[in-house]
Amino acid sequence: MKKLVIVLFLFGYLIKGLYAGEGMWIPMLLNSLNEKEMQSMGMRISADDIYSVNHSSLKDAIVLFGRVCTAEIVSDKGLLFTNHHCGYGEIQKHSSLEHDYLTNGFWAMNKSEELPNPGLTVTMLMQMEDVTDIALFGVTIDMTEAQRKEKIASNIKAITGKAKEKTGFDAEVRSFFQDNQYFLLYTQVFKDVRLVGTPPSVIGKFGGDTDNWMWPRHTGDFSMFRIYVGKDNKPAEYNIENIPYQPANHLPISLKGVEEGDFTFVLGYPARTSEYLPSYAVDLITEKSNPHRINLRQIRLDIFGKYTATDPKVRIQYASKDAGVANGWKKMIGESNGIDRMKGIEIKQAGEIEFTQWADVNKTETTNYTGLIPSFEKAYLGLEPLKIAVDFQTEAGMGIELINFVSKFSVLVDESKKASADGKKMEELIKSLKSQTTTFFKDYYQPIDREVATELISYYIHNQPVDFRPTFLNTINTQSKNTINDYVNRLFDKTMFVSEEAVNDLLTGFTLKKVKKITQDPAYQIVVNMKEFSDKQLQKPVKALNATLDSLQRVYMKAQMEMRQDERFYPDANFSLRVAYGKVAGFYPADGVYYDYYTTLDGIIEKDNPEIYDYRVDEKLKRLYTTRNYGRFADKTGKMRVAFAATNHTTGGNSGSPVLNADGQMIGINFDRCWEGTMSDLMYDPKMCRNISVDVRYMLFIIDKYAGAGHLIDEMTLIQ
Ligand code: ARG
Ligand code: ASP
Repeated sequence: MKKLVIVLFLFGYLIKGLYAGEGMWIPMLLNSLNEKEMQSMGMRISADDIYSVNHSSLKDAIVLFGRVCTAEIVSDKGLLFTNHHCGYGEIQKHSSLEHDYLTNGFWAMNKSEELPNPGLTVTMLMQMEDVTDIALFGVTIDMTEAQRKEKIASNIKAITGKAKEKTGFDAEVRSFFQDNQYFLLYTQVFKDVRLVGTPPSVIGKFGGDTDNWMWPRHTGDFSMFRIYVGKDNKPAEYNIENIPYQPANHLPISLKGVEEGDFTFVLGYPARTSEYLPSYAVDLITEKSNPHRINLRQIRLDIFGKYTATDPKVRIQYASKDAGVANGWKKMIGESNGIDRMKGIEIKQAGEIEFTQWADVNKTETTNYTGLIPSFEKAYLGLEPLKIAVDFQTEAGMGIELINFVSKFSVLVDESKKASADGKKMEELIKSLKSQTTTFFKDYYQPIDREVATELISYYIHNQPVDFRPTFLNTINTQSKNTINDYVNRLFDKTMFVSEEAVNDLLTGFTLKKVKKITQDPAYQIVVNMKEFSDKQLQKPVKALNATLDSLQRVYMKAQMEMRQDERFYPDANFSLRVAYGKVAGFYPADGVYYDYYTTLDGIIEKDNPEIYDYRVDEKLKRLYTTRNYGRFADKTGKMRVAFAATNHTTGGNSGSPVLNADGQMIGINFDRCWEGTMSDLMYDPKMCRNISVDVRYMLFIIDKYAGAGHLIDEMTLIQ
């Protein structure tokens, strides 16, 4: 009986299909798939106002910022908003002891003070087109996977070639729905993007890793840039003569704020999701892979923490590494817990039973999907130990900074072994290694790495079977932590790669004779051993299994769409522009606990704690709080709102995306998700999944009252 109830409950979940909130939709298809629902939820504009090729629309104001963030244009002079954590790298590059913009913030008071960022680009989608028929032209069911791939690749090449010629834009064809649909994307890449402003980290990164992935949140996670172009308003390489970009559209900004239940939508560039995986894959990720990866990262974080708590220099050295390791660690914990809580694997399993029954009833002579689920099971069974072995290589092996650093020298060794070693290439490699050496040692603290190495190696040996780990681990005396520590100490005492001087000596006047110095180094030998293991035992079978899984997934996607013909489907995220929509909403993270939908400056003052690094509060901000000097940016009750939560379905890459109201006016910037909902990359739970945004009024308050950069606000279009 209990089983039946669960099945019925799960079935109910499935047939209900998509809840409001779930989905990252294709802008071009909003008209046919979403407009009605969006309007019924409160939207007062049309799909055509969001995406159109006939007139300017909101999409003209949205850009991919760098490689994995979103930004939006908010003035007719190409002014951009994105997150502080998206601009972090650029802000850091401009920072020095004399000009510490990370610590103090930075505000260009006029255009000549705006700072160029070589290498930083923003990409704008000009138009998209469904080219599925042309991409799949000549593809037949009797083709092998390789033949199929080759045919599609050559079709795509022809499509993009023609498209570029016709329009002068960049053109790219991208696969959607696991290779079932193809879209041609026309884009423009802007290469002169300058830093305009950023709050100090105590505001832009307030809460740091303590609050990361969590709601309630108080981070002023925004920064400002500007697009510059040639005199013809077209993208150009950096040039001091370049002028601010005049966009086809820029986002109006609403000062009206948001209330619970308000309709909102997010336009941005989500990077990767995997919503259509079978239960076996979700089980592998959340039950098998994540737990080891979480443990291995926990080990590193604990050791980092021990040293950074007492040594301010080490804290700065490890700030960025720590943030990176912690971001993934926390995300994985949330993801596994979330799938567990929503019984995600059981839901998928119930769906698979239903699918196979449907497949059985509907099989014909030419299509028979009944074998799909068992084929997935077999492939994932084979993949499991290999995937875990790869995880250990990356998290445990490469988690040792020394090993990761030394692995960068293998290209040099490989090149020099070639009979025709190319002098110019060698020179470039050496130049690059020299700069990597400087960067590495600037932030390297050997005692941390020795301790990390001992702990990671110990975990590796005790948790990976002999056949699934590199052989160097078998030479270590594993009697106790002490004997492993002895091994690590011998390694660190002998290798030259922990000494900046020795590595620079090696690279200065590098000749082929010196290659031996590298190959005989014990740390390098570990790298070689790990690579051999990977080449011989992992790469080939993993590649083959992934190819099988790709084609199974393609057929499964198609079959699911056939089975649920009346439902709408959205494709997994793939770095293309998408629209997510939902409502402003709080949630119940646990029994008896309710989280409100917004936070205020009062909460920052409550968190204030000079003892906790992430909770230091800026003095000037405190003064503005005391005098309640919020001007027109306060809410109706006179409070300064900082952040809000909503049900928009977002993922990595959506950081920096504008959050818009029913009238298509900007009300905030997306920057994170709540911890209880980070499984949304695999399965979305409307009860728990919330995206987190900075309230645009807080951003304007910081720009105006805190930074005195009101001239930037004068450029914007404010709706009172
Ligand atoms: N969790 C957010 C995202 O995945 C923010 C990460 C940056 N912040 C941090 N404290 N590490 O990008
Ligand atoms: N913080 C993420 C980003 O940087 C957003 C997310 O994963 O929700 O894109």
